[in-house]
Amino acid sequence: MKKNILITGGAGFIGSHVVRRLVLKYPQYQVVNLDKLTYAGNLENLQDIESRENYYFVKGDICDAELVSSIFTKYAIDNVIHLAAESHVDRSIAAPLVFIETNIIGTVTLMEAALSHWNATEDCLFYHVSTDEVFGSIEAPDSFNESTAYDPKSPYSASKASSDHFVRAYRNTYKLSTIISNCSNNYGPCQFPEKLIPLCINNIKRGLPLPVYGKGDNVRDWLHVEDHAKAIDLLFHQGNKGETYNIGGNSEMKNLDLIRMLCKIMDEKLGRSGSEELIEFVKDRPGHDARYAIDISKINSQLGWQPSVDLETGLEKTVDWYLTNEDWMTRVTTGEYQQYYQEQYFKR
Ligand code: NAD
Ligand code: TYD
Repeated sequence: MKKNILITGGAGFIGSHVVRRLVLKYPQYQVVNLDKLTYAGNLENLQDIESRENYYFVKGDICDAELVSSIFTKYAIDNVIHLAAESHVDRSIAAPLVFIETNIIGTVTLMEAALSHWNATEDCLFYHVSTDEVFGSIEAPDSFNESTAYDPKSPYSASKASSDHFVRAYRNTYKLSTIISNCSNNYGPCQFPEKLIPLCINNIKRGLPLPVYGKGDNVRDWLHVEDHAKAIDLLFHQGNKGETYNIGGNSEMKNLDLIRMLCKIMDEKLGRSGSEELIEFVKDRPGHDARYAIDISKINSQLGWQPSVDLETGLEKTVDWYLTNEDWMTRVTTGEYQQYYQEQYFKR
């Protein structure tokens, strides 16, 4: 069946993997990518599919109600996969307002357009992509499931939690057809090097310090971005409308152990030794969540999804991608990045 899908934030890290997957796998779908091209958006991530007949790019802001409405009309949008967001916790601590604008107001703007363009009888879906950080921090051996109470602790997670609440409210109040998924930390090709893994890969390559916040004993669950894209594809087509699903990698690791693993992989690939000596303990992130862990039994039992890439293999593949795409890294680490890095790490 034909679908006209609006994907927001498709030029970002996860969005570009979702756009590519849908454009290539479903040539009968029309995929429209709406992206503001902030510092995190990069059309280079989609170069290989930009001339596909079923792909369209619109540069613009999800908070621009007129633009969003015109896209719904022009492309007869009947489905939305919403990924556009401000996504970095450290930036949310430094400057929270834009997180409220994009993550909350942007989400509501999109849902308003959906409500005014969609006929109740149509088979339409608003799929909202969210994070496990909405649940706050959890002690071992417990993990977040779909009934865990929201307890966001950073401006980023508070903005995402708020957007999730609005999506549920629109479902409940206006009967908007929705799905929400809450996923753990992603890694893989095209991730902007403000996030831990690409930042460390870039710094190891250049022999720069590897900044470990606090003692490095915070735990994150890691999922390869292609596995996330597969889960989104599956939920988009087969998820139960009105429900939420947790997605995770079954790969919990302390930050310090993860960085050591990366050093070992990079040393092997570069024929070097001693990258671990670059590790530098720096002032902790304020309000740093201690541990995230995800229970994936719902998506696993309902839809058979589970992660297919184990962490070590995924990291090796990711390192390979960054080493063969050095120009990509050079381009994204010039300009604004230099100033960001200076503010974030030299004034700590
Ligand atoms: P990203 O920062 O790499 O990309 C965000 C994209 O959104 C960029 O292309 C940017 O240009 C675009 N964007 C930002 N503001 C916009 C606006 N106002 N209008 C239109 N476009 C705008 O983010 P990501 O890591 O790919 O995350 C995508 C989504 O997945 C986010 O909603 C995030 O909360 C969620 N998520 C991320 C992770 C993760 O580990 N990265 C994990 C779980 C969930
Ligand atoms: P990050 O990639 O920013 O993702 P999130 O904060 O959304 O989990 O950070 C992952 C973990 O790594 C988190 O516990 C913070 C830590 N971290 C560092 O220790 N040093 C760094 O330079 C960065 C960016 C993160």
